[in-house]
Amino acid sequence: MSTTHTITLIPGDGIGPEVTDAVVRILEATGIRFNWERFAAGAGAFEQHGEYIPKELYASIERNHVALKGPVTTPIGEGFSSINVTLRQKFELFANFRPIKNLPGLETRYPNVDLIVIRENTEGLYVGLEHEVVPGVVESLKVMTEKGCTRIAKFAFAYAHTHGRKKIHAIHKANIMKMSDGLFLRCCREVAKGYPSVTYGEHIIDNTCMQLVMNPYQYDTLVMENLYGDIVSDLCAAFVGGLGLVPGANLGAEAAIFEAVHGSAPDIAGRDLANPTALLQSAILMLRHIDEGAAADRVQAALEKTYAAKKSLTRDVGGTAGTRAFADAVIEAMQQGS
Ligand code: NAI
Repeated sequence: MSTTHTITLIPGDGIGPEVTDAVVRILEATGIRFNWERFAAGAGAFEQHGEYIPKELYASIERNHVALKGPVTTPIGEGFSSINVTLRQKFELFANFRPIKNLPGLETRYPNVDLIVIRENTEGLYVGLEHEVVPGVVESLKVMTEKGCTRIAKFAFAYAHTHGRKKIHAIHKANIMKMSDGLFLRCCREVAKGYPSVTYGEHIIDNTCMQLVMNPYQYDTLVMENLYGDIVSDLCAAFVGGLGLVPGANLGAEAAIFEAVHGSAPDIAGRDLANPTALLQSAILMLRHIDEGAAADRVQAALEKTYAAKKSLTRDVGGTAGTRAFADAVIEAMQQGS
């Protein structure tokens, strides 16, 4: 008898429910048995339960240790705190892991990109400590701790070491933020000493953005604090076809939440236009995390076959298919391959 995996599922809002439905259908077509514990979060949850993150959702992640999550809209310049940031802080999901790789057959700005962006997920400016000092003057606090900087550096080097990655660059602005980013660099340098086989370098964030666009191949694995990681992830997504493609994993000692880099894309929501590939690739990372490597390989192969065939692709990558039709094509490719 195969195991049933109980997974917390947060479809989110905007394009979230569409891409989540597509991905759940593909995952179920692998033959693995899933028991989805499904929860709303954000404005939708508040309407239903009077809470932006229902207590039952927290309890479900505590029990299952694994969640698959669609994007959740965060109000801009006002309103409730980001659900994503809150969940990452609550479960200490300190490492945001984002592999950036081309899919076969898809023409993009750069071919053969193979980058890993590792973003610290719980500190920096995202601690959300903002206040008005006097009318017209506000402060946003950037909090960096030795513990937080060291654990993300250790994560990055351990990953590079075990996955045969050759180089790590720590990305910073320590020329200006000498104390906070200075601490980050000191921690990275200390951890780097334990990994002589991984070449260690440091680049300033603004130069990094230019260098990435000029020549992304000069980098291998990038490690950085929260805000820089947020921005650099979207920039790198553009190399391989955009936000519809790039996956992510939020990892901690007790739990893992798998979600795409992209947001709720209100401009295309509810119209069967969204590309579910980014969430699907996040789900592939999830399958590996729950020791379903063979199923992960089958989904990956079906996804690659669908792209290589250049049909049934969504509009963001030059096709004409909808979200559902794309999912159908991946399922068909998987069934043909088995
Ligand atoms: P966004 O990532 O939602 O959209 C940026 C652009 O990429 C849009 O043109 C959109 O149509 C396109 N796009 C994104 N995902 C796509 C997909 N799967 N297929 C095809 N096209 C796609 O970023 P935006 O507009 O800045 O943010 C919208 C909302 O999402 C905000 O409230 C933001 O706070 C939230 N957000 C949530 C995240 C999460 O839940 N993890 C992450 C990032 C943003």
